[in-house]
Formats: sequence, C-alpha cells, structure tokens
Amino acid sequence: MTKRQEQPPTTSAAQALLDWYDRHHRSLPWRVGPKERMAGVVPDPYHVWLSEIMLQQTTVGAVKSYFEKFLSLWPTLADLAGAQEEDVLKAWAGLGYYSRARNLKKCADHVQLHHNGRFPDKAKALKELPGIGDYTSAAIASIAFGQAAPVVDGNIERIVSRLYRIEEALPKAKKPIREKVAELTPANRPGDFAQGMMDLGASLCSPKKPACALCPFHNICEAKKAGDQERFPVKAPKKQKPTRYGAAFLIKRQIDGAIWLRKRPDQGLLAAMSETPGTDWSGKSAETFDLITALEHAPQNLDFRKRSGQITHTFTHFHLILDVYEAISDTQQPMTTGWWSSPEAINKEALPTVFRKVVEMV
Ligand code: ADE
Repeated sequence: MTKRQEQPPTTSAAQALLDWYDRHHRSLPWRVGPKERMAGVVPDPYHVWLSEIMLQQTTVGAVKSYFEKFLSLWPTLADLAGAQEEDVLKAWAGLGYYSRARNLKKCADHVQLHHNGRFPDKAKALKELPGIGDYTSAAIASIAFGQAAPVVDGNIERIVSRLYRIEEALPKAKKPIREKVAELTPANRPGDFAQGMMDLGASLCSPKKPACALCPFHNICEAKKAGDQERFPVKAPKKQKPTRYGAAFLIKRQIDGAIWLRKRPDQGLLAAMSETPGTDWSGKSAETFDLITALEHAPQNLDFRKRSGQITHTFTHFHLILDVYEAISDTQQPMTTGWWSSPEAINKEALPTVFRKVVEMV
C-alpha cells in the first residue's frame, strides 16, 4: 500500500517558475531572496506585512523609500504600536489611500495587544486583522510563514488568465483564476512562488507585447499557443469616472510664507488628514463654485484672488478639478480652527497629494 502523500508535489509548471525566480528575481528591501533563504535567513513577518500594506495600491518604485523610512522610524511592530496615529499619517503622506495608514496603526495595536506582538501564521486568522483582505492575508501567510495560500493580484490575474485562456471577464473571472492559482501554488516554497509570479507579471508577462520567448510558461501557455495573449485578462467595460468640482483656499502668512492648514473630519475620504481649507467637492460643473459661492466657504474674509490654472486629481471613484483662491494674511487676522505650517514644516504634514498640489501652486 502506498503511503498517503502529505504535501502535493510541486508541478512542473510551479517548478519552472521557481527556477526562473531563482535566476531573475528582483532584489527588494523587504524581500529575503532565494540564496539568503538557502542560508537560513527567515523573513520578518513585520517587514512582510508592512510592505504588503504599502504595495496594495502603490508601485514597487514608490514604496521602497517609504518602507525604509517606516523601518527607521519604527523598527519593530512594538515601536509602531507605541507610535501616535498622527505621526504615522505624517510618515505616510504622499503614498495615498490613507485608510491604509489608519488601518496599519490599528493592526499594529491589535497584534501587539491580542496576539502578543506576533502575527498569526494562517491566512484565515490574518484576514481578521484591520486592513488585511484576501490578497494581503495570502501574501503574508505564504511569504512570511510558508503557507500554500493562493496569492492573486492584478499581475497574477494577467498571467493566469493567459495561461488558461480564461474567457470570462473580470471581475467574474476572479473566482476561476483564484482556483487555478490554488492548484498551481506548491507546498514547497509557496512564498517564492507568489513573489516569482509577481516578478513575472511585472516584467515578461506585460499587458502589451509580453516577452513570451523568455517566459518559464512559454510551452504551456494557452494564450501564447493561440497567439492572442494581449486579449487577456478579458475585462468588463469600465464605467466612466465622474468629474467633480470644488475650490481650495491658499492662505499665506505675510511675515514668513507659512500656509494655513486644518484637519479633515475623522470620517470619510482622506479622514483625519490635513488639508488646505476649501469648499466641499460636490460641484457638478466648473460653474458650481463661481467666485461668490466659493468665497462663502472661505475660512476668513480676506482679499482672495483666483489663481490662473486649476488643480486636477484623480481618486478611485472620481476626477476632481479645483479652482484655487489665494490670499495673504497678516497675523492680526483671527482664523477659524487650524494652524500655520511654515515652509520648513509643511513637508512633514500629513498632507495628501491633492493638497500638496494646491500648496505647490505657489
Ligand atoms: N507587489 C505586492 N507585493 C509584492 C511583493 N512582495 N514583491 C513585489 N511586488 C509586490
């Protein structure tokens, strides 16, 4: 009688990908490469978690310096749990999707308090933590803890939809893609497998003109065989993003050029971050906030001048166009809630990119 196998064997496809990863992997600050792994270095779950949260909606290139900054400010999970939320938001400023920063802090506090400062090692338990969903739980479980959890991000969706020529359109295709990734993920080195897939998606298996001749899957990829790789993943037609309009007030202190900032509400878009004062962003057209209507929202009765040009910014669900009104204030003029931020301090403010664009207009 044959003994029941405890672990599924690594398929030849998975092995081909691992071999490719060994030769072509990217060196990244949060990564333990295959050679270090062989030498017995184990990934630090805090590093893996921090990088995966940062990478959720942001490119590798943009994340590197933030990852290093966070580790120098808070080298351990306990340090981050001991930090002020405000300081974490400040350090996050510029990375976007600020709910990630608030959840990062909540998650650090939670793990410190309820898990003795150690991340759970299974995807299911990780998914219970603030800011951790299907993708991140699987990425941490596989990369930090060697669990064969299926990791599926946008790049991996592209690879797998091509490999199997999945005709269903995204987002419906997510389910069959995930099933295929679960089948492919080896019990041996699942974290390297996931990272290899990410690297393949970021290099050879590009949206346009994939470099199939160099790909470890070149002789099993269905789309390559059919010659229609660029058709995958099939996408449902996109809904058009609406454009909203508003106005921002840039108030500069005469004596030193400090800018007046205030804190945004604790709920909603860009919650608890800093901002230049402004109208809401409910405008349906460029005319909604004409000069008179806009100035009704100004925090102070100053001599505002409309600047030529506008700020444009794109959020997940809408485009924003802002008119900017500028005024000079002397310190005698009382202001509603907020603070002056000096030219030296402003770079350290928790000021989302849209407001940085306003400040940088002058
Ligand atoms: N994108 C998301 N997670 C990543 C990782 N661990 N390595 C490279 N790119 C990524």
